[in-house]
Amino acid sequence: KKPRIGLVGLGVMGKSLSLNFASKGVDITVFNRHVEELEVDIARNFAEENKLVYEFPWFDNLEKFIKSIERPRNIILMVNAGPAVDMVIESLLPFLEEDDLIIDGGNSHYKDTIRRENDLKKQGILFMGAGISGGEEGALKGPSIMPGGPENAYNRAGELLEKIAAKDKNGDPCCTHVGPNGAGHFVKMLHNGVEYGEMQLIAETYHFLRFGANATPLEIADLFEEWNQEMKSFLLEISIDILRKKEDDGFLIDKILDAAKQKGTGGWSTNAALELGVPLDTITAAVLARNISGKKQERVKAMQAYHREFKSVTDIQKISDDLFKAYKAGSIINHAIGFDLLLEASKTYQWELNLSEIARIWTNGCIIRSSFMEDLIDILKEKPSENVLVHSEIISLIKNSEAALTGIVGQALQAGYPLPVLSSAANYLLSFTSGQSSANMIQAQRDFFGAHTYERTDEPRGKFFHTQWIDN
Ligand code: 6PG
Repeated sequence: KKPRIGLVGLGVMGKSLSLNFASKGVDITVFNRHVEELEVDIARNFAEENKLVYEFPWFDNLEKFIKSIERPRNIILMVNAGPAVDMVIESLLPFLEEDDLIIDGGNSHYKDTIRRENDLKKQGILFMGAGISGGEEGALKGPSIMPGGPENAYNRAGELLEKIAAKDKNGDPCCTHVGPNGAGHFVKMLHNGVEYGEMQLIAETYHFLRFGANATPLEIADLFEEWNQEMKSFLLEISIDILRKKEDDGFLIDKILDAAKQKGTGGWSTNAALELGVPLDTITAAVLARNISGKKQERVKAMQAYHREFKSVTDIQKISDDLFKAYKAGSIINHAIGFDLLLEASKTYQWELNLSEIARIWTNGCIIRSSFMEDLIDILKEKPSENVLVHSEIISLIKNSEAALTGIVGQALQAGYPLPVLSSAANYLLSFTSGQSSANMIQAQRDFFGAHTYERTDEPRGKFFHTQWIDN
């Protein structure tokens, strides 16, 4: 019998996923483009390398590849997001038949996914955009999978994806039908947004400890290890290993250039929030922190121009308790902000996202897995349409850490250490829990210079007023 699934694109992720399918007993046929004499024969080499363990039917001819898959076909694309996905789809189309399904497993933009699904539907081809998280190791051993698209497509191919997915603590797959069309890729995008926030939180905490508290990488690693007994955060866990990595007689972290790269998904989350008109403070701050880090030369020059020095202003024992509280609060707020964007998108796009279920498939396999993600399953089940921050358990947690959060932010800023995500978390918290914002002044200014009108507190909402602000 022919394999039910074929995979296009044997990059790092494609190879790992193929091995994962094979190890779960799912027969899979693989394709990689091969230009004679110009490139190595990736598909042949891959099959060759693994032939003692698995038999991969491999192809560098598309037509033969497609014919080798059982109908209706399930074809998973593991190619770089962007125009490459459209090109591969174009090249597959002449050989596809009604009801064949293409699953895009890359980090594609959800709007591209919506467009592709629509275009392919007209030609009788099913399309799913599936976010896949967990990096190389996740892809190999069990990633978290976020498939979006038509229900009948998931009914058919879902079981294959569920086989290779990570398992949650009850043994259920970290894979679920997220919603229609672009929902899967939107959810993966936001996963990455939260990932950016969590990474920056750890980075700025490390930075303040390293320079503001003059702590060694080993001391910071030990402290993070203590914290992680409670947090059980994958990102904190890898940061501990990073801090302990030695090179020659120093630490590798001290030799890594402080200019962060990115491939776009964090910023896409910010764009989505701007389009929907909702906040996304911590995630946006994390994206922009990467951007400013990229201006290395300018930063060095400006530091000299300002005669700024890194001075040690505290020590690790003295601030560790407050810093932990601040970090934990920052992380909770970052998640609350992320899930709030999912809620808004779900309403606008009518995706009917199940946020508790999304938290569940993020408890294992993915980059942002942590003990808080486990807590979020119940929190989001209990109050699925409210901001996480108004959940009673969260209120007491945050209240207990608020002074530490604002205290650390104040202390670090005064001492000359930026904390972009922690301070935006603090600002978000204060703004979100303040019944009287500063926006009455904004509305008055808008009305003053542009007659944009305003609503009044002593009149019903929806009634707009204009004032002649100065007598002519
Ligand atoms: C994952 C990751 C992954 C992402 C990298 C790099 O969930 O496995 O999110 O999909 O590509 O984290 O992202 P940046 O290059 O933008 O940092």
